[in-house]
Amino acid sequence: MNAGVLGTGMVGTAIASKLVSLGHSVAVGSRTADSAAATKWARGAGSPARAGTFADAAAFGDVLFNCTRGAASLSALHTAGAQNLNGKVLIDVANVLPPDEVGPRSLGEQIQDVFPAAKVVKALNTVNCDVMVNPASVRGRHSVFVSGNDAMAKQQTVALLESFGWVDVIDLGDITTARATESYLPLWIALWRRLGTAAFNVSVVR
Ligand SMILES: NC(=O)c1ccc[n+]([C@@H]2O[C@H](COP(=O)([O-])OP(=O)(O)OC[C@H]3O[C@@H](n4cnc5c(N)ncnc54)[C@H](OP(=O)(O)O)[C@@H]3O)[C@@H](O)[C@H]2O)c1
Repeated sequence: MNAGVLGTGMVGTAIASKLVSLGHSVAVGSRTADSAAATKWARGAGSPARAGTFADAAAFGDVLFNCTRGAASLSALHTAGAQNLNGKVLIDVANVLPPDEVGPRSLGEQIQDVFPAAKVVKALNTVNCDVMVNPASVRGRHSVFVSGNDAMAKQQTVALLESFGWVDVIDLGDITTARATESYLPLWIALWRRLGTAAFNVSVVR
């Protein structure tokens, strides 16, 4: 699979490296074609990896990840170009910080509104990036969530998350349910402060 990862921070590079380790070809995108972070990552990751602009990464990927700063995600995706998003699964990992600045509609919904031909799936935004790509680093069975309007896009996302090692992936429903996972952020932050580590997650016990 060709994957386009928009974002060169710790999340983008963690996901991009995981995808490369699973045998996928990955382009990481940034605001500029010569981003130091993206270039360094691509050099370290080897031949199936490349660095470019947001538009380059979006054009390259059959599946896309939005790993940009939440408050800047819409702008980054506009730069990536709607024509490069149309018809593609767009896995939105971003959170808006501080969370109360997101407004009544979640970022996932806003992205779906602005790019109606993209198949937005909100996922992985409830865990730290190391846990995203290595769920076994937290002991026991624990849960992540997907939200999105397109059933096939969610199925593809669940399969991808399972390839990352996730066992309990809960489909919450349409993209409006991204409000629920984006609203979890204050609890995540409180737990992180209390526990002194980001290596934790919640488990949904039936
Ligand atoms: N850190 C975690 O473990 C974690 C966990 C769950 C969710 N998240 C969410 O995942 C996303 C990525 O987090 P992160 O910590 O890796 O990195 P980040 O610092 O939040 O975002 C870095 C990316 O955002 C882009 N960016 C920043 N300002 C921009 C602007 N004004 N216009 C366009 N693009 C802009 C940067 O572009 P350049 O490449 O050009 O610099 C870079 O690619 C965030 O939304 C975060 O809330 C993070």
